[in-house]
Amino acid sequence: MTYFLIALVVLTLITNSSYSIPMIYKYNNDENLDFWTPAKIKKVEHLKTRNIGFKTRNAKTIKNTTDSSKYTKSMPPLEKKYDIINNTIIEATNVNQFHYPIGLLIIRNHSGDLFTCTASVINTNNGDIGLTAAHCLFDHRTQSFYDDIVFSPGYNNGQVGPLGAIRVIEMIVTIEFLHNSDDQFDWGMVKFDFNMGGYPLKAFTGALGWTFIVGNNTPTTILGYPNGGNLQNCPNDGDTLCYWQGITHLAEDNEYYVIPDLEIGNGASGAPCIINYDPNTNLGTLYSNYASYDDLNEEALLPFYDPTEFQALLGEIIGF
Ligand SMILES: *[C@@H]1O[C@H](CO)[C@@H](O)[C@H](O)[C@H]1NC(C)=O
Ligand SMILES: *[C@@H]1O[C@H](CO)[C@@H](O)[C@H](O)[C@H]1NC(C)=O
Ligand SMILES: *[C@@H]1O[C@H](CO)[C@@H](O)[C@H](O)[C@H]1NC(C)=O
Repeated sequence: MTYFLIALVVLTLITNSSYSIPMIYKYNNDENLDFWTPAKIKKVEHLKTRNIGFKTRNAKTIKNTTDSSKYTKSMPPLEKKYDIINNTIIEATNVNQFHYPIGLLIIRNHSGDLFTCTASVINTNNGDIGLTAAHCLFDHRTQSFYDDIVFSPGYNNGQVGPLGAIRVIEMIVTIEFLHNSDDQFDWGMVKFDFNMGGYPLKAFTGALGWTFIVGNNTPTTILGYPNGGNLQNCPNDGDTLCYWQGITHLAEDNEYYVIPDLEIGNGASGAPCIINYDPNTNLGTLYSNYASYDDLNEEALLPFYDPTEFQALLGEIIGF
């Protein structure tokens, strides 16, 4: 009889969404990450949006997109499953539906100088994959990848997010950027070193959906950490998550998107360009990222993700 009662109680607890999994939050015990204190982060530079004069704009890469339709899948956004409260993993409740898939990317170059960009967790089966601008990962001056990068999802107002800083362990950029520093292909992916209670990062942060070829005149939200630039209602201090909302345009050759007269500023490189953004949940579907500001044409440049290339990069980074 007693046994039966206990079984009943357990069942009741499990169906209750606030059931707490007795697991202790021991993330960031990597002592090398102690380096990334909020005070240190405040002192960093914010990586300049690249501007190398768009010399490569006419150097078209011939792409065979004939059979890309089978890859033209999109992925919906994902709601987080768990929260961390008092060092314990708790199932997320309907009360706390705020997701934080967007975060500050902090990069240390080979001489120890620090820079920041913006990155976001995207919805993948792997769950530990993020997206950012290629120039935040690959240094065209030294022709090498930065090898010391961390990510703090939910970073805001100079404070690291609920999960602290998470190390990037793999990165990949488009072949066009790697070989030609082509600004139209200024995007890449990262894999995070994350495992908390057996769950991937997306389970705690939520993840942005992704889609391709959204067309001309697309209502868009961009979220990032700009320092400088001309974004309204934003301190532009590199430490505050700010947003821009407006319409993006397809450039004439349908190879990238632009936003006239928008310079978001340093630190916003890699900021996701999102459709169907919901400010209540902080989720939406990404289709590009803020790459750079073109001084010549006075417009923001947002790369066009080729579906085949996107899937190829995703496959490679998951497989690493
Ligand atoms: C492009 O793809 C089609 C269909 O897969 C193939 O038949 C064709 O040979 C490809 N062309 C090039 C230049 O690779
Ligand atoms: C976390 O623990 C502290 C100290 O035990 C307690 O005061 C606080 O209410 C707890 N917070 C939550 C959300 O449970
Ligand atoms: C690191 O960044 C600083 C500041 O931009 C630059 O002067 C230096 O050359 C960079 N070092 C390397 C090895 O890239």
